Amino acid sequence: MCGIGACLSLLNDNVAPKIVKMLMNLEYRGYDSAGIAVIDSLGKIHVKKGVGRIHNLAETLRFNEMEGHIGIGHTRWATHGSVTDYNAHPHIDCGNNIAVVHNGIIENYTDIRERLISLGHEFKTQTDTEVIPHLVEEKYKEKKSILESLREALTELRGAYALVLITSHEPDKIFFARFFSPLVIGISNNDIYIASDIPAFLQWTRRVIILQDGDYGFVSADKIYIRNLYDPAVKGREIITVEWTKEMAAKGGYRHYMLKEIHEQPESVKRTVRMASKQIGDVINLIEKANYIYFVAAGTSYYASVHGQYAFAKYGIRSRAVIASEFLEEVGAFLDKDDLIIGVSQSGETADTLKAIRFAKKKGSKILAITNVVGSAITRLADRSIIMGAGPEIGVAATKTFTSQVATLDYIALNWARTHGFDVDLLISKLLNIDKDMEWVLEVNEEKAIKLSEVLKEKNNAYYLGRGLGLSIALEGALKMKEIAYIHAEAYPAGESKHGPIALVTEGFPIFSVVLRDETYHRMHIAIEEMSSRGGFIISVTEKNDSDTIKLSDFNFCAPDNYSNILAPLVYVIPLQLVAYYTAVKRGLNPDRPRNLAKSVTVE
Ligand code: AGP
Ligand code: GLU
Repeated sequence: MCGIGACLSLLNDNVAPKIVKMLMNLEYRGYDSAGIAVIDSLGKIHVKKGVGRIHNLAETLRFNEMEGHIGIGHTRWATHGSVTDYNAHPHIDCGNNIAVVHNGIIENYTDIRERLISLGHEFKTQTDTEVIPHLVEEKYKEKKSILESLREALTELRGAYALVLITSHEPDKIFFARFFSPLVIGISNNDIYIASDIPAFLQWTRRVIILQDGDYGFVSADKIYIRNLYDPAVKGREIITVEWTKEMAAKGGYRHYMLKEIHEQPESVKRTVRMASKQIGDVINLIEKANYIYFVAAGTSYYASVHGQYAFAKYGIRSRAVIASEFLEEVGAFLDKDDLIIGVSQSGETADTLKAIRFAKKKGSKILAITNVVGSAITRLADRSIIMGAGPEIGVAATKTFTSQVATLDYIALNWARTHGFDVDLLISKLLNIDKDMEWVLEVNEEKAIKLSEVLKEKNNAYYLGRGLGLSIALEGALKMKEIAYIHAEAYPAGESKHGPIALVTEGFPIFSVVLRDETYHRMHIAIEEMSSRGGFIISVTEKNDSDTIKLSDFNFCAPDNYSNILAPLVYVIPLQLVAYYTAVKRGLNPDRPRNLAKSVTVE
């Protein structure tokens, strides 16, 4: 979902170059078109926008030459209105006095648009967003201030929005509002920033205000004015200093963020486990008291939740992983106040997941959030939150946040098990010191992944098979190959092959097989033999000394020995992340910017 970047210079410098940099830092949030608006010294608004990537537009439209020390910018991921120059943000009112950029969906925009057209407003685009500047313009005819006009306009909007607004009526301010879509303020000695996400301005400041649902207001050279539509007691928000560093948000010498983040996993998992140990608090108690536990998540976070379900089951905890967008239909009817909902979301802003959690809250269920972003929407809905230590994940494809989610769920499962008489001390100590083994997996498998990608780059289909604790690994590995290498990869429980999928297997068909040396071991061998007897190209992921499986394989990735337990995804998934990355690169694709995708899906 789109990226918002706004800047007010306290030194009266031109802000366009910084806004361009902010949008580049946010491109993982959406990148089909982009635009910038600034206010010049005479209070006049100038807008430049177009289809394409911010890097190219900055050249062709010469954003950096725009003059003004206040401005707003946007990289779009279109929801309403095709990808065209005129549908790109910013959008302006009839009088060219108000410019707005927006992330989210205004669900009642057609009603508002029709009413404004009847009042004489002329619309130039097909977007939902364009109603905002016209509505504020209409309100301003009766009000004394833009703030009051904005506040009143907000009360008429339905749906989700994070927005920033500049106006020639009050050219010294940037106005803002947030509801369901994320928006943060950054404060440095030279500038004030408003953005969709902290990495936008992390290179300049770590002092941040996390705006909350219903917040609106403005920033000027001498004031940060915050009020809340629903809570009149709100007179401002706390400034926090985030622990993230600018290096964490930079590429660190890697060709792509995704490769850097794959390699960061030994460190990010270690940091996450350490942070989980400080936040575990009464989580065990929440599990104890729960009648039933539902995980709710989307995409990769759902696959981490599938792992959570199997890991919990290992120690007798009943739970069920539910896809967020199916939650109401699948389990809504059974929820009650004795249930525990574990919301797993890297961004903490995924609309499907938040909607499911809001529904569960209304039923009185307890909510535990596991997320990577402090202050994100999911933390404000939750009774308890565990913040992961993965650090900012810039690549659109989740990698280090998947292993951090798994590590957090494993830490919870093992602590619950220990309090119930299971001897898990060895596994807990292994988890606390897993970075060495993850480093080993990276070293041993990277060259293998590069070699295998030479073969896979010509393929268009692949199966990923797993059973038990291997299933979530297969699911996540397939998603990586799908979303960044554009190979139609399908993961399913290995026992299902003979019930249909095997019909597709022909000579050379890639079959990834995740093999753990546990109770599923021999049934995985049956699955492999079924496939190889029909010409399948067997790519196994096994413990390093599993010679029997290696003998059945055409290609093998290896994990350390003694990982056929709930820690398995932390080492087994790494080769699958690497081979998806290198296959994408070999296909001439940009793994950081997969087509049609955005990092955080803040619309339903
Ligand atoms: C995974 O690589 C994708 N980025 C996507 O499936 C993602 O996991 C999903 O949109 C959920 O995002 P969240 O963890 O921020 O809720
Ligand atoms: N709904 C707006 C549009 O389609 C904003 C989309 C977004 O959040 O990127 O332009």
